[in-house]
Amino acid sequence: MARGASSNRWLERQAKDKYVKQRDGHGYRSRAAYKLLELNQRERLIRPGSVVLDLGAAPGGWTQVAALAVGGAGKVVALDILEMQPVKGATVVLGDCLVPDVQSQLAEIFTANAVDLVMSDMAPNITGISARDEAAATELAETALTIAQQFLRPGGALLMKLFQSRETDAILSDVNRLFRTVVRRKPDASRAKSREFYVVAKQFGL
Ligand SMILES: C[S@@+](CC[C@H](N)C(=O)[O-])C[C@H]1O[C@@H](n2cnc3c(N)ncnc32)[C@H](O)[C@@H]1O
Repeated sequence: MARGASSNRWLERQAKDKYVKQRDGHGYRSRAAYKLLELNQRERLIRPGSVVLDLGAAPGGWTQVAALAVGGAGKVVALDILEMQPVKGATVVLGDCLVPDVQSQLAEIFTANAVDLVMSDMAPNITGISARDEAAATELAETALTIAQQFLRPGGALLMKLFQSRETDAILSDVNRLFRTVVRRKPDASRAKSREFYVVAKQFGL
């Protein structure tokens, strides 16, 4: 079957993308790994021994970065609705974070106040219908924030992807209420055209 124009454009963009070339050389599963590498270098989010919950982890680039950074003394739990190949040093959980049973499954792994960092790179399947896509992205962000409140230790941190929308201010004001410092970041590996950006929130509950 002939490829569509948009699929050809995607292939051309991938071929030119410096992060795709680096990803292949470094053995990361996603170009998204470079977003976390940059954010972590700047914000010092993951330390040796850290306990990290990675929401929306597949195919596993962030999980690879986190597992290396926490080392043998730390713990990384990676959750996704899609199956994901194992990552050395991480526990993979298959499930939809919107489902209460899946949140209970996380509660069996972590006690409350056990996690140093909750990361969410979750993104919904885009339908092209903006109201629906915004609602889906908002629901994922609100759920990540609920999960963070359930598991973060006092002083812990949240790194969360958001998509600029009419809901952004409301989500950011919830984040601001719960964390002492909150900044927006757009890492170099995040495509300029994408509405995504990242929120780095530190000092939970202090
Ligand atoms: C941009 S990808 C994450 C890339 C990942 N950080 C990496 O470096 O490989 C977004 C992920 O969010 C996941 N996702 C979307 N909705 C979800 C949900 N309700 N529960 C769990 N994961 C979800 C998708 O399946 C997808 O794998």
